[in-house]
Amino acid sequence: MVGLMGVTMPGITPLSPHDPRSAGPYQLLARLGTGGQGVVYLGRDGDGQRVAVKVINVDLHRDPRAKARFAREIAAARRVASFCTAQILFAEVDGDAPYVVSEFIEGPTLRRHVREQGPMSGNTLHRLAVGIATALTTIHRSDVVHCDLKPDNVILGLDGPRVIDFGIARALDLTETMTRQVMGTAPYMAPERFRNDEVGPACDVFAWAATIAFAATGRPPFGSDSIGAVMHRVLHEPPDLPVLPDPLDELIRQCLHKDQQARPSAEQVLLRLLGYVARPSATPPLEAVLREGNVRATAPAPTYPMPNRPTMTIPVPTSPAPTATAPAETVRRETWPQRLRREYADPWGISTAVFLGLTGAAAGYAASSDTGTAVIAATVTFVVVYSVRLLLATALSARPGADSAGATPITYRPPPSPGP
Ligand SMILES: Nc1ncnc2c1ncn2[C@@H]1O[C@H](COP(=O)(O)OP(=O)(O)OP(=O)(O)O)[C@@H](O)[C@H]1O
Ligand SMILES: [Mg+2]
Repeated sequence: MVGLMGVTMPGITPLSPHDPRSAGPYQLLARLGTGGQGVVYLGRDGDGQRVAVKVINVDLHRDPRAKARFAREIAAARRVASFCTAQILFAEVDGDAPYVVSEFIEGPTLRRHVREQGPMSGNTLHRLAVGIATALTTIHRSDVVHCDLKPDNVILGLDGPRVIDFGIARALDLTETMTRQVMGTAPYMAPERFRNDEVGPACDVFAWAATIAFAATGRPPFGSDSIGAVMHRVLHEPPDLPVLPDPLDELIRQCLHKDQQARPSAEQVLLRLLGYVARPSATPPLEAVLREGNVRATAPAPTYPMPNRPTMTIPVPTSPAPTATAPAETVRRETWPQRLRREYADPWGISTAVFLGLTGAAAGYAASSDTGTAVIAATVTFVVVYSVRLLLATALSARPGADSAGATPITYRPPPSPGP
């Protein structure tokens, strides 16, 4: 461990006398490590910014087609946005030693972290899964396939996990890369890569699942003993996995499917991890999903799996939602003239007044034996009875008005109905 430009990292070693001191405009300061494709150096650009310089140990001059392919793939990889990825800043293809310059990420690789700190669980594991799925979705969106995702190519930076080296394995000749580095990579390689079938983004989804399984258990799901044994298990046997927390358990098993067509895409993995599957209509545009994935991978999550975003089907109410806040309806009440108009011709009121008027006439005639007195008694009784009933009925029979002309508005709020 050395302290260089403020970097104190395990695995970093001083330059040997045989190491180059520069690569193009980049000053090389120390070795970060050696992999199947070359040596990675800690470098410094013209502005004093730290970078990682991977000097590739493949002679591209001998094969113009390989060189063109390398240039094309690296150009595509340079367009990949930096959502949980280490951005590729520059690549030199024409010089004697091709090299690729990327953002320097300070932190241990996932492999080193698990070896030293043990397997991950809970929020930490979930954030890692989200971070790598976010990186893969970003990479695939630019039509790049990583082809070498594994715990060595994930750095646990200060601001969350970052995927490195995307596109480089594919940019180089795959078969050559395979023979050189297959021991570290085989447990994360999808069956189609061993079968020499067409290889696409689904091989990264398989590698995502194997990498997360490694993080959760400390061992890859198809073992790591010998290449032959690992290859046989990847091709023919089910993964050796403990029960993992939801939704990772089901996702990882689906992503490790032998048939690449049966695996979900990286985007589907990310959406499921973020809990959008139960609510497809609520899924925001991909750019927003990637931003959310980036934030979720870096910010501390509350509690596992994600209580603030339900991943189960949300029950659909079968009756109208509670209406405590239902919009108020405006109902108009009849005015006095309207009620008078309704009541003056009321047959029951008229009948009663006529009946009592006749009763009054009979009583007047019996008392006086005078027809005139009987008519007056009938008329007075009828008018009094009719008027009193009309006034009482008009006063007491306020109803919602049938038409609103001239009506007095009143506010009516329906009572809350019971929830589902
Ligand atoms: N962008 C980077 N930022 C910081 N460290 C890096 C970066 N890229 C690579 N490294 C370091 O360099 C080491 C060697 O990387 P390298 O990619 O050569 O090896 P590998 O990942 O083990 O194998 P492979 O060749 O399959 O990728 C890594 O383990 C990592 O520690
Ligand atoms: Mg690497």
